[in-house]
Amino acid sequence: MLVVSKLMKTINLLLWVCVVLLIQQPNPALGSRKLSSDGLIITNPPPLGICASGVIIYGYKCQEIDVTTEDGYILSVQRIPEGRNGDGGVKNRQPVLLQHGVLVDGMTWLLNSPEQSLALILADNGFDVWIANTRGTSFSRRHVSLDPDSPEFWDWTWDEIASRDLPAIIAFVFQQTSQKIHYVGHSLGTLIALASFSEGKQIDKIKSAALLSPIAYLSHMTTPLGVLAAKYFVGEITVVFGLAEFNPKGDEVGRFLKVLCADPKVDCYDLMSAITGKNCCLNASTVDIFLRNEPQSTSTKNFVHLAQTVRDGVLAKYDYGTRAFNVEHYGVPKPPIYNLSNIPNDFPLFITYGGQDSLSDPNDVATLLDDLKLHDEGKLSVQYIKDYAHADFIMGVTAKDVVYDKIISFFHRNQ
Ligand SMILES: *[C@@H]1O[C@H](CO)[C@@H](O)[C@H](O)[C@H]1NC(C)=O
Ligand SMILES: *[C@@H]1O[C@H](CO)[C@@H](O)[C@H](O)[C@H]1NC(C)=O
Repeated sequence: MLVVSKLMKTINLLLWVCVVLLIQQPNPALGSRKLSSDGLIITNPPPLGICASGVIIYGYKCQEIDVTTEDGYILSVQRIPEGRNGDGGVKNRQPVLLQHGVLVDGMTWLLNSPEQSLALILADNGFDVWIANTRGTSFSRRHVSLDPDSPEFWDWTWDEIASRDLPAIIAFVFQQTSQKIHYVGHSLGTLIALASFSEGKQIDKIKSAALLSPIAYLSHMTTPLGVLAAKYFVGEITVVFGLAEFNPKGDEVGRFLKVLCADPKVDCYDLMSAITGKNCCLNASTVDIFLRNEPQSTSTKNFVHLAQTVRDGVLAKYDYGTRAFNVEHYGVPKPPIYNLSNIPNDFPLFITYGGQDSLSDPNDVATLLDDLKLHDEGKLSVQYIKDYAHADFIMGVTAKDVVYDKIISFFHRNQ
């Protein structure tokens, strides 16, 4: 029973962003209006690329770049090579790579004003900023041969984001800049980095890593919706959504939300808090911009994998469910684990987490920190912010003072 309820709690994860749809426009999901064949589309996707809509408008230079992964996904990457007022005499700007979380894309770093958005703050502080967009998001819905309308396009989990997307982008930035890279990850963007580092991968090209709202262990994730989601998700998530694209703006998710919101115990007007935790410091205008760009698709298989992470309490590769299938994929009956204790003790890490975050729960962060307990003193900085929840780290109006300035000093200490 405990296991089941844990599993079901993860279902919330898949909701965490789609719910904001309801905050802005509750009626399409709740009301009786017939859904279009395209699903619950609030607005059209931004017609412009991320550079045009989030960077150049503020007077910064920005390049759109395509990077192709080993398995054929074509990923969109943005580079902001200098600050608003040019290079300011800074030679050899150090590259920083920003890696977003699940159900969002690189736009997530550009939602507030230039003085409040991490990507632009870093550019203005002398860094050469690179923004990743993982497979399946609006601008990375491309493949050398697969069609995004085919299930094959969506046959991956965060294992592949860690083992294919991340290496392709890091190799590209490394090759372009001939420098080791500072890394910033939020949410799932921390998990894929930790997973890679634990296998000794990417470390040779990364100078240091700042992890915001880290997600590694998920077994304590708490959200008020857990119990209710469990009622509707009896068994496999894939029975409901199929094994393909998980589109938060699509019909299936819309129907699921409609059912949830019909329950009097659920306040669909405050679902964002119910799921991410109570964010202290979001700007309503920023949330509006957020809604124009997000949420983004991911694969259903990715959610099943995250559900396994919650259920099993260990960080392991995707479980194919039977010994035979696991042997076929891994050569062993159980999926191999990512052992975070294997991250080199002298690798510079900055971890910042919030007391109100119900996705990156403080108890789970404690488990992560326990894995890192032998880390060299001085190579691990930890910041706990009592009032912060999941979205405050990327969209909070106080984030510059509270978090970003600390990230910049951390990078300077680890040049
Ligand atoms: C919120 O966003 C609006 C529009 O971008 C801006 O004018 C306002 O100053 C922001 N408020 C805060 C507290 O940052
Ligand atoms: C992880 O690695 C550490 C040392 O590197 C080892 O002591 C520990 O037993 C490993 N954990 C698991 C679950 O294999």
